[in-house]
Amino acid sequence: MKNLVLFGPPGAGKGTQSALLVKQCNYFQISTGDLLRSAIKEKTKLGMEAQSYMDKGALVPDDLVINLVDEVLSKLNGKSFILDGFPRTKAQAIALDQLLLNRKLKIDLAVFLEVENKKLVMRLSGRRVCQTCGAVFHIQNMPPSVSGVCDNCGGLLVQRPDDVENVIEERLRTYAANTAPLRDFFKESGVYVEIKGDNSAELVFGKILELIK
Ligand code: AP5
Repeated sequence: MKNLVLFGPPGAGKGTQSALLVKQCNYFQISTGDLLRSAIKEKTKLGMEAQSYMDKGALVPDDLVINLVDEVLSKLNGKSFILDGFPRTKAQAIALDQLLLNRKLKIDLAVFLEVENKKLVMRLSGRRVCQTCGAVFHIQNMPPSVSGVCDNCGGLLVQRPDDVENVIEERLRTYAANTAPLRDFFKESGVYVEIKGDNSAELVFGKILELIK
C-alpha cells in the first residue's frame, strides 16, 4: 500500500478520511494534532509547551513536532502510514524526507483536500469530538444518533477548544501562510494529487481509494 500525506486546510477532512483508511485499509495513522492533544491531556512536558500555541491557533515549533514524528515512525512495524497534519511547514517537509530516508521509506502520494473557506468555518464550528474515543461528528453533516453522545462508545461529545470563531480564523491564516505553500514542494517532488474535499465524506474516500489502488 502507498504511504500518504493527507494535507489541506483545517476542517478539510483529513481526520475523517484517515479514520476511514485505518478502519478499511489497516493504515497506521500519524496525526500530529491528535498526538499533541494526548500530550496535553497527559500533562507531559511537550503537552504543556504545545498548549499555548494550539489555544491561539498558531503552529507548535518545528523541532517539537519533528521529534514527535521521529518517535512515532519507529513504531510502524512495517505498516503503510498516513501523515495527517504533518508536515505543515517547509522545514518539517525537509526534515520528514530525511527521517524517511534514514528508515528507507518514502512518501508515495501527497493528497491535497481542497475545500473553500466558508465551508471550512461551518465544518469546524459544528464539529463535535468524543471525549473518550476521539470519534469525530458534525452537528449537521454527520450527527450522532443521540445528540451529544458518541455512536461508537457512548462517550460525551465536546467541542475542541480551538474550534471557536476567533481561533478558527487564526488557524486559517496560519494555514495560508505556512502550509498552503507546501503544495509546490510536493509538486516538485512528483507526489502531489488534488481532490475536491467538499463532496460527501464517502465520495472523497472513494477517490482516495482509487488513488491508492
Ligand atoms: P490538527 O488537529 O491537525 O487540526 P487541523 O489541521 O486544523 O485539522 P482539523 O483536525 O481541524 O481538521 P481535519 O482536516 O482533520 O477535519 P475533520 O476530518 O476533523 O491540529 C491542531 C493544532 O495542533 C494546530 O492548530 C497546531 O497548533 C498544532 N499542530 C498539529 N500539527 C502540527 C504540525 N505539524 N506543526 C505544528 N503544529 C501542529 O473534519 C472537520 C469537520 O467536518 C468534522 O465535523 C467532520 O465530521 C466534517 N466533515 C469531514 N469531512 C466532511 C465532508 N466530506 N463533508 C461534510 N462534512 C465533513
